Amino acid sequence: METKLLYQSLAQIEADAVAVVLFEEESAPADLKFAASWTDELKASGEFSGKSGELAVLHQPQGIKAKRLVAVGGGKKAKFDSAALRKASASTARTLKQKGVKSLAWLLEGRDAEAAVEGAILGNFEPDQHKTKSDCKSLEVFHVVAAANGAEIEKSFERGKILADAQNFTRELVNEPANLLTPLVLADKARAMAKDSGLECEVLDQDRMMQLGMGSLLGVSQGSAEPPALIVVRYKPETPSKSTDHLALIGKGVTFDTGGVSIKPADGMEKMKYDMAGGAAVLGAMRAISKLKPSIPVTAFVPAVENMVSSKAQRPGDIVKSLNGKTIEVLNTDAEGRLILIDAITYAKRLGCTHLVDAATLTGAIVVALGHVNIGAFTNDEDFLARVMNAAKDQGEKMWHMPLDDEYKDLLKSAFADLANIGGRWGGAISAAWFLREFVDDTPWVHLDIAGTAWLDDAKPYMAKGPSGVCVRTFVKLAMSW
Ligand code: BES
Ligand code: ZN
Ligand code: ZN
Repeated sequence: METKLLYQSLAQIEADAVAVVLFEEESAPADLKFAASWTDELKASGEFSGKSGELAVLHQPQGIKAKRLVAVGGGKKAKFDSAALRKASASTARTLKQKGVKSLAWLLEGRDAEAAVEGAILGNFEPDQHKTKSDCKSLEVFHVVAAANGAEIEKSFERGKILADAQNFTRELVNEPANLLTPLVLADKARAMAKDSGLECEVLDQDRMMQLGMGSLLGVSQGSAEPPALIVVRYKPETPSKSTDHLALIGKGVTFDTGGVSIKPADGMEKMKYDMAGGAAVLGAMRAISKLKPSIPVTAFVPAVENMVSSKAQRPGDIVKSLNGKTIEVLNTDAEGRLILIDAITYAKRLGCTHLVDAATLTGAIVVALGHVNIGAFTNDEDFLARVMNAAKDQGEKMWHMPLDDEYKDLLKSAFADLANIGGRWGGAISAAWFLREFVDDTPWVHLDIAGTAWLDDAKPYMAKGPSGVCVRTFVKLAMSW
């Protein structure tokens, strides 16, 4: 989709449709005075009251060049923040493209250009990369129309495009089926992204991981014919800062999770191609970070494996030794995400990372606790979590602070090894987080369980069914605000 920032008056805009936000308490904004009778009539008829989610289309409007004038409900004006704007432009793009609109102009009226263009690019995305004949129409042109030019608005518009492209990159990766996206293919895609973005990329192969002693990660991958990879992508700021801070973004990269010998039920198993959504999110974030250039070094780690069943697969009761020397009794082979993450965490610490954030589709239990609305956020450092949560809030990604009291740690006791990899039925998202924490020690760390938020089981007005790209915006904002 072509996107452009234009400085025009409403009357000059040439497009299939021009969209303008109308609020509940407002009849028509200043530049829509010519259409005041239309908007008054819309409201009087009860057909459109300005509530968010509403949309009304006027064909062949008098006095302007555009073919359609579209009123978009903004809800209450005071509540119309960037997150609401992002959703409004995304929903409008989705609704109008289905009606055959190819070019859409968005009247900015002094609001956030970043959110407007970002929303449209996200809304225009369809996970149809493997349909030879897609039934989804798409927008070809999206213009943000502002009254006056300026460096700030240009930057904001560019940021919106970069962020949206990064999220769609992530969504496309997550949507790839596991036969086409093996750990090594994911590594190739990370390498290609790094090359295009001017980032360094290093991939540790199975032999290297054996030499290093990543027994926990390798135990998971041993059941698969597809070799594992530990993907490392580095961003270094051009002018190094005096601070020694170094942010690690660590993402679970299970390209398919059958559960292993502790096999999952067949029903819905196809969704487990999304079990690398954390890894895809950190790679998407790195892509945006390479363009937006924060002042802190950021390194992404994606342990990539396939969790399969075979005669070589790990068994319940197996004991593995992790990179930091602790032994683990694998009581359930389906709790594999934590087993690969801990070796990546230890490795990130060894490379000098001072702050760790991980994102993982880690537990079904977080979906029970928080549904599909909030990411579950766990930490060993409240101040650091506050920074991550501020970044998330700014970006309209919802997170809920989950507890990690010492009492939960006891759930992971093993009779035969230092730790068990599961903590029983209750509080499953918390014992999973505690398992990670055992390998983090005192380094400031935030764990984001995105099992409920990385995938939309049903389409939303503003987003297609499938991968959501969650966490990309938060990660980029966190790095940018360091
Ligand atoms: N990838 C799953 C998490 C998951 C499960 C996401 C269901 C979405 C829906 C993870 O590897 C897993 O299987 N976790 C187990 C852990 C359990 C065996 C302690 C789970 O949540 O059932
Ligand atoms: Zn699993
Ligand atoms: Zn998994």
